[in-house]
This record gives sequence, structure tokens and C-alpha cells, in this order.
Amino acid sequence: MKKESNTTSRRAFVKTTGAVAAGSFFIVPRHVLGKGYIAPSDKLNLAAIGAGGKGRSDILNAYQDGANNVVALCDVDTARAKASIEQFPKAKFYKDFRVMLEEMKDGIDAVTISMPDHVHGIAAMAAMQLGMHVYVQKPLTHNIYEARKLTEAAREYKVVSQMGNQGASNPAQQWMIEQFDKGTVGKVHTVYVWTNRPVWPQGIPVPTDKVKMPESLSKSDWDLFIGPADYVDYHPLYHPFKWRGWWNFGTGALGDMGCHIIDPAFRVLKLGYPTEVECSVGQVFTKDWVPEHIPEGCPPSSNVELKFPASKHNKSEVKMIWTDGGIRPFHPDLIPASHYLGEESGANGVLMIGKKGIMMCGVYGNDPKVYFKNGEVRKMPENYKTTNPNEKMREFGHQVSWTQACKAGFDSPEHKALTSSFDYAGPLTETVLMGNLAIRSYAEGKLNDRGRMDYTGRKKMLWDGQTMKITNHDAANKYVAREYREGWKLI
Ligand SMILES: NC(=O)c1ccc[n+]([C@@H]2O[C@H](COP(=O)([O-])OP(=O)(O)OC[C@H]3O[C@@H](n4cnc5c(N)ncnc54)[C@H](O)[C@@H]3O)[C@@H](O)[C@H]2O)c1
Repeated sequence: MKKESNTTSRRAFVKTTGAVAAGSFFIVPRHVLGKGYIAPSDKLNLAAIGAGGKGRSDILNAYQDGANNVVALCDVDTARAKASIEQFPKAKFYKDFRVMLEEMKDGIDAVTISMPDHVHGIAAMAAMQLGMHVYVQKPLTHNIYEARKLTEAAREYKVVSQMGNQGASNPAQQWMIEQFDKGTVGKVHTVYVWTNRPVWPQGIPVPTDKVKMPESLSKSDWDLFIGPADYVDYHPLYHPFKWRGWWNFGTGALGDMGCHIIDPAFRVLKLGYPTEVECSVGQVFTKDWVPEHIPEGCPPSSNVELKFPASKHNKSEVKMIWTDGGIRPFHPDLIPASHYLGEESGANGVLMIGKKGIMMCGVYGNDPKVYFKNGEVRKMPENYKTTNPNEKMREFGHQVSWTQACKAGFDSPEHKALTSSFDYAGPLTETVLMGNLAIRSYAEGKLNDRGRMDYTGRKKMLWDGQTMKITNHDAANKYVAREYREGWKLI
């Protein structure tokens, strides 16, 4: 197992050979250079775990039209990975990321990890332990414990990390930080965050019908898809894309969008671990009076309140109110009724309510504005000068900034300038997943003699972020981490 940073030595090699000649491109095999050296072409050797869906745009953006090499692709489903395989015919194709990482440990510098949420943690940890830099889709992990462990591991193994909440690199977020730091909205006491997700089936019964697997998947491919989760038979209600609505694989609407939409408030207000969480969730009725009880599935809608203590940066306690399933906050008086909330469609948004005004934006921090008590509305100027040199690239250059930081090395200025390295993304993900802990606990209960549920987990819960424990309802602590299927582990 490799623990030390390899980037310093790679960079030293590149510098001493002076081999970064403009336009030159040749790959020196890694066995010539020895482990830990980057090729003189100064291109990263990239691999993708998850090459279809979002994985395709992640690896394409990191590849940056040839600025880097794509040396390996991994996907359990050849049909989903087809376009990436065709685009990178020289890349070695794998179905099992553990085999890929082991076989190519001397040939991969950095990995994009863009498959269902339940495998992010294990794949990222395995890559980091081999000294590979990692770009991991949001939410960073499936549970709070994994997020904490990845955050620590990125530092321990000295790798450059970035979570895939690309809005973090939107110059709009920098503008909002400046506005808040100037005191324009004053202390913020309440934050509303909302989304129209789920836009995939949620709150539906667990599928029980047997469905034939598509040609592109074998039994063992499906077993790899399941990975550390509990085994269930293949069903199109799981793969592709719809895995989001099942706790076994996904993290629901909150997990899907929280790292995008909670991000601006978490960043601008410099929030830390929440101290309290409470929720209520939408019910589904297929018969009179008795709601469906589907603890395996994420609910069709939820309303979550998180509380954060006052800090030096924002000298007020903050109540954050999250709603999904299309439930939106009401129009604050300060915002004219003719103005939209959040983004133009109203589908997603953020409202930070301060003593002096309201800061608002849509998803990814888009379209930020400040509303003042005197009726003034301040927008981000079109010629706003950002420190993000890649702002005009796809997804605000979020993947490209990461590849540049990988080349510059751990703790380099480029690394420190990343907007969602795990030091930031870990606590953000933990906060998002706190909401899910409450949502899952909300479904807990026992059937009584009248055939109705007595719910036991519908509580306001108190959280000790340092020790990762709910202090007033121990039963909920089982959602902090999960047990993995035999044969799978985090370390
Ligand atoms: N940042 C964004 O804007 C954004 C957008 C969409 C999705 N995402 C995130 O990207 C991740 C993937 O979501 P998606 O929508 O692309 O899902 P998807 O189901 O459409 O695609 C997932 C891909 O991963 C492959 N896969 C599944 N299990 C695998 C495994 N064990 N090993 C290798 N490959 C595996 C699938 O075959 C598929 O090609 C999720 O974490 C999601 O939250 C982020």
C-alpha cells in the first residue's frame, strides 16, 4: 500500500528534465520512470470509474481535448460505457475497479469516480491509498462515516481531491462571498434551499417482478454493480439512473441535489457541522388511511430543518430549511411578487435571509442577487472579475482545475485554490447526509395490533459532529455508517 505523495517527485522530474516542450507529446512508460513520476509530456494519465452517465462528461472534461491521457475506463455496463470506449480506444477497459486499480497502479495518476453513490467511498479510498488523485461525484459518499474517512484519507495520502459539485467553481459563488463579507445582507439567520427533485420514481413499492437482464450485463456485472450494498436482483428501477431513489444505492433528492444547493450557503456563511436536525416527509396512499411503509425507498418529498451555531463569521444561529419534491418556500416580503424565486423556473433555489437583506441564487449558484430593504436589487456585474482562470470552460472548469492541481501537487497553490477539495466537500456532504439520517429515522416504527404503525424515530435529533453521534436517539446512529456486503470494505 502506497502512502507517500508521488506528485512532488513527478514534478521534480518534469522540472529537471525540462521536458515540457510546447506541443511535444510522448509518453514514457511508467516502468522506465519508476512509480511516482509523471510522463515528460506533463499529461496526467487518467482513469474513469463509471464511464457512462455523468462519468462520461467528467472524464471528457478532465481529458480536456487532449491536455491529458485517458488510459483506463471502468464500467459494469458496456452499453452505458460505449461512447467513452469508442472515443478512447487505447484506454484499457475494465468492469471491476478493484482489478483496474491494482493492475494499473503504476500507470494511473488520477481517477474520476462517477458511479452510483453507494460505491463512491470504497472506490475513492482504494484509489487514494494507491496515491492516485481523485475527482468524486457528489454526494461524496453514501453515509457520514465514509465522508469523514475520505476527508482524513485525502490528507493522509497527500492526494489532490475534488467533489463533483461543479457550481462550487461558479464565479457567482465568489461574488456572493464578497457580498456577504462586505456585510451587505448582515447576519444571516434563516436559509431556504429547495429542489424539484426527485424527477425519477421515489416513494414507490420495492419491485418484486423478475426482469431479464439487458444483453450488456452479465450476472457477475450485476454483482459488481451491487458492490457493497445488499444484494437485490437486477431491475430497471435500479439501473441506470433510478438507483437514486433507493437507500441501498442512492441518497434520494437531498443527496442528489443537496451538494449543489446547500453549497452556496455552506460556503458563504462558512457553516460547520449542524447541531440539530428534524424532518417530516411526504406520504403515499394506495389504500384509505394507511400510508405505504417503504423503508427501502427514499420518500417522494421531504422537509428538513438543520440548525447551525453562530460563528465568528456569521454571528447568528442559522436555521436551514430544505424542501424537495417540488415543495418551495413562500415569497419573502422583500422580494417583489413579480420576481421569480431562485432560478427562473423556480425549480431550485437558495435564499439566505439576513438582518439587512436577502441573498438569492439558483442551482450551481447561478443568477445571484441581493435584495435590500430599500428596494434595491444588486446583481453580479457581467464583467465580474473572478480568480477562476477556467471559468469559461464546461462546468466552470471544475474538472480542469482539479487536473491542474493534480499536476501542481498536494498543498500547491492550485490545490489550495480548488473549490471543493475534500476538506470542504467532506463536511458539506456530512451536513447533507444528516438530513438523510433524519429522513430514514422518520420511517422507523412498529406495526401495532390495529395494523397501524407506531413511529419511533420521528424526533428532533441532537448531533455531536465531532464524535459523529446523535446524542438523544441512539437508534438513529445506525444510519451514520453502513455494513458492507461480504467481500467489500472501505480500507
Ligand atoms: N454533478 C452533476 O451535475 C451530476 C449530474 C448527474 C449525476 N451526478 C452524480 O454522478 C454519479 C453517477 O450518476 P449518473 O446519473 O451518471 O448515474 P447513471 O446510472 O446514469 O450512470 C452511472 C454509470 O456508472 C456505471 N456503474 C455503476 N456501477 C458501477 C461500478 N460499480 N463500477 C463501474 N461503473 C459502474 C453505470 O453502468 C453507468 O455507466 C452519481 O453520484 C450522481 O450523483 C452528478
